[in-house]
Amino acid sequence: MTSMACIVCVVALAFVLTATPTTLCYVTDGAARQSTSQRHGAARTYIVLVERPAHAHAHDADDDAAHRRWHESFLPGGGGGGGDRSSRIRHSYRGVVSGFAATLTGSELAAVSRRPGFVHAFAERRVPLMTTRSPGFLGLMPDRGVWKAASYGEGVVVGLLDTGIDATHPSFGDEGMLPPPAKWTGACQPPARCNNKLVGAASFVHDNNTSDDVGHGTHTAGTAAGHFVDGVSAFGLAAGTAAGMAPGAHLAMYKVCSGQGCFESDVLAGMDAAVKDGVDVLSLSLGGPSVPFDKDPIAIGAFGAVSKGIPVVCAGGNSGPTPFTLSNEAPWLFTVAAGSVDRSFRATVRLGNGEAFDGESLSQDKRFSSKAYPLYYSQGTNYCDFFDVNITGAVVVCDTETPVPPTSSIDAVKEAGGAGVVFVNEADFGYTIVVEKDNSLPMSQVAAADGGKIMGYAAMGSSSAAHTATIVFNSTMVGVKPAPVVAAFSSRGPSAAGPGVPKPDIMAPGLNILAAWPSMIPVDKEGESINFNVISGTSMATPHVTGIVALMKKMHPDWSPAAIKSAIMTTSVTVDNDGHAIMDEEHRKASFYTVGAGHVDPAKAVDPGLIYDLGAHEYAAYICALLGEAALRTITGDSGATCAAAGSVAEAQLNYPAILVPVRAAPFTVNRTVTNVGPATSRYTAHVDAPESMTVKVEPAELEFQEAMEKKTFAVTVSVSAGAGAAGHVVAEGTLRWVSRDHVVRSPIVADSSVASNSRSAQEF
Ligand SMILES: *[C@@H]1O[C@H](CO)[C@@H](O)[C@H](O)[C@H]1NC(C)=O
Ligand SMILES: *[C@@H]1O[C@H](CO)[C@@H](O)[C@H](O)[C@H]1NC(C)=O
Ligand SMILES: *[C@@H]1O[C@H](CO)[C@@H](O)[C@H](O)[C@H]1NC(C)=O
Ligand SMILES: *[C@@H]1O[C@H](CO)[C@@H](O)[C@H](O)[C@H]1NC(C)=O
Ligand SMILES: *[C@@H]1O[C@H](CO)[C@@H](O)[C@H](O)[C@H]1NC(C)=O
Repeated sequence: MTSMACIVCVVALAFVLTATPTTLCYVTDGAARQSTSQRHGAARTYIVLVERPAHAHAHDADDDAAHRRWHESFLPGGGGGGGDRSSRIRHSYRGVVSGFAATLTGSELAAVSRRPGFVHAFAERRVPLMTTRSPGFLGLMPDRGVWKAASYGEGVVVGLLDTGIDATHPSFGDEGMLPPPAKWTGACQPPARCNNKLVGAASFVHDNNTSDDVGHGTHTAGTAAGHFVDGVSAFGLAAGTAAGMAPGAHLAMYKVCSGQGCFESDVLAGMDAAVKDGVDVLSLSLGGPSVPFDKDPIAIGAFGAVSKGIPVVCAGGNSGPTPFTLSNEAPWLFTVAAGSVDRSFRATVRLGNGEAFDGESLSQDKRFSSKAYPLYYSQGTNYCDFFDVNITGAVVVCDTETPVPPTSSIDAVKEAGGAGVVFVNEADFGYTIVVEKDNSLPMSQVAAADGGKIMGYAAMGSSSAAHTATIVFNSTMVGVKPAPVVAAFSSRGPSAAGPGVPKPDIMAPGLNILAAWPSMIPVDKEGESINFNVISGTSMATPHVTGIVALMKKMHPDWSPAAIKSAIMTTSVTVDNDGHAIMDEEHRKASFYTVGAGHVDPAKAVDPGLIYDLGAHEYAAYICALLGEAALRTITGDSGATCAAAGSVAEAQLNYPAILVPVRAAPFTVNRTVTNVGPATSRYTAHVDAPESMTVKVEPAELEFQEAMEKKTFAVTVSVSAGAGAAGHVVAEGTLRWVSRDHVVRSPIVADSSVASNSRSAQEF
């Protein structure tokens, strides 16, 4: 197999749950697509992986038909030719995997699985979908630095699997762009029309229509590689010039999701087509709950893409802040967490006693603050679903149980005559404020801690109208500190499916992100038409990383996906704009399971000095150690593969740019190998930062390179002192930095008592 070049797998899982119908709210219910055909009885859609047909020529266009015939031959015969069989094949795959999706009953499936060449079948699930400011916040400036050095990503094709695209949006104009590279074979299906920016649009969902009825795909595509658009704002806020991370790159949209979510067989079909068309990087702002990698079509398809050198960037999920909530955790994927940017849509709640609390709102009514209003809060009606007293003219304080205030509460306050509303974050969300457009009433959303103080003041005044408040709207503020802060909804490690590799990998902006929006999709009840919108999720963080990967592909076309991921992780930033360690939603120091290696820093990523490389061989050996030979065959699609040939690499020993070891009595040693991609002659010294309970020894402590691409191996021995090993879940975190004159190559070190201390490699085969 060729080396795996794909590091970037951003699967943006979920949109933040919101109450309005215009926002994606994909509920993970594992729903299966049921056949509507009576004839098939209790049939459902299966993804069936099979061997490649004999004499297949991977790059022969006619070969599509040969594959299809081979796939049809697995279906129960109708005797009368392929017509019936052919109509039952929903997708035929031959790019990232070999196989097909079809609707089958249980007994049909049993028959299919007995045929020679059958590898594996699984019932598909439905998985959820999970700026003007962010380029500047990430240090990307026109005519300078990385953008200039990477020619804005010119010539690179970014593929997104999403909800379709509004091809007429100004972000997808192609002024000044060259045609796509000669290797590109993609095309645009209606109603999208290709230009030199948008070079591919295909639909794999039922309507066979590439338009975006949701807005999600247009937004993520704009974030990854939208063209410069001047004079952009949403609702008059966040004004500026909008651009994606790689504004010079080409875009290809593979529509695999609708407003109801994304069926796995469609996702796999999109990935398959993208790889055949010739994309350079794949972006997935979608994903399901954790399942073993050999039962996860996204992980399996991405293995095929990464094996061909295509990084796959994936959203980590929106199920935080609970631990073990990650999606898309396979080590060959690039798993992205979401953080804030230094921008606030300021709506300050000012109390009659002079105290002020900074909240946020997308609806800014500047006249509102010209007077003070009675402040109302009642424990009996704290969710504001109904009112039993006269609240006419009052500012009402409401609790919420959802990240975004429910429209029903806003309506209830309005109907009862309320003048304004202050929404208090649910406790779990801490300081993360997810805003959404709602014009019904002047409002502010405040952090839970601030809400407690506002309620206290309101309750004291309950017997009279003595206690008042107003909301001061102050538009868009930038340079807000601290930033970035991890968003509460961003899913957390450890990885359930691969507990020995620390995840997520990296954090990027995903809270209240402004990007392209289809003007025909209204964002509030008034149906206001806008073409830029502010939404949140790891879905939004993902295309930021995808665009940066595109820039790196331009500068380092021969780097593997693992090399690109390593570069982005080891150069990431660990401090916020206040100079403190990046914090989580509660303003505590964020753990590696929360933020990953750090916050992405494109300027540094393009010049990492050293990389931790990995290829398909290493991943195969890792799969053998973790899951065994049957899984190896399923994931690689090679039914002749054996673990005797592939070897075995225990999770902790995988050459990952982050280190995770078990907590146990004896010291634990892992080996790592770095490749010199900096100056040919360079010398690095190991620096360790670790808490008192953790001892880290690096051997050798100096690495001297004489040549470009030279490799050096070192051992890291970690011990965690007794006491730390007591009952309960113990996690200790340190950092290894290789420092040379001009580079710092940083890896997180996590010691976790929940990781099995015996590597599973021994007993697996
Ligand atoms: C979908 O559209 C493409 C391109 O317009 C066309 O070739 C194909 O036959 C259509 N498929 C279906 C199922 O309508
Ligand atoms: C595709 O869908 C859009 C929006 O739903 C609709 O306006 C358009 O007519 C459709 N186009 C085709 C070719 O079906
Ligand atoms: C509610 O209060 C407002 C202002 O205090 C008053 O004008 C209005 O008549 C009251 N409504 C009812 C139904 O009592
Ligand atoms: C409003 O913004 C201005 C300018 O950014 C700032 O000086 C002022 O303090 C802000 N006021 C409030 C209430 O936040
Ligand atoms: C680590 O490297 C050393 C020296 O090359 C070797 O002896 C040892 O077996 C390696 N350990 C593992 C776990 O691969």
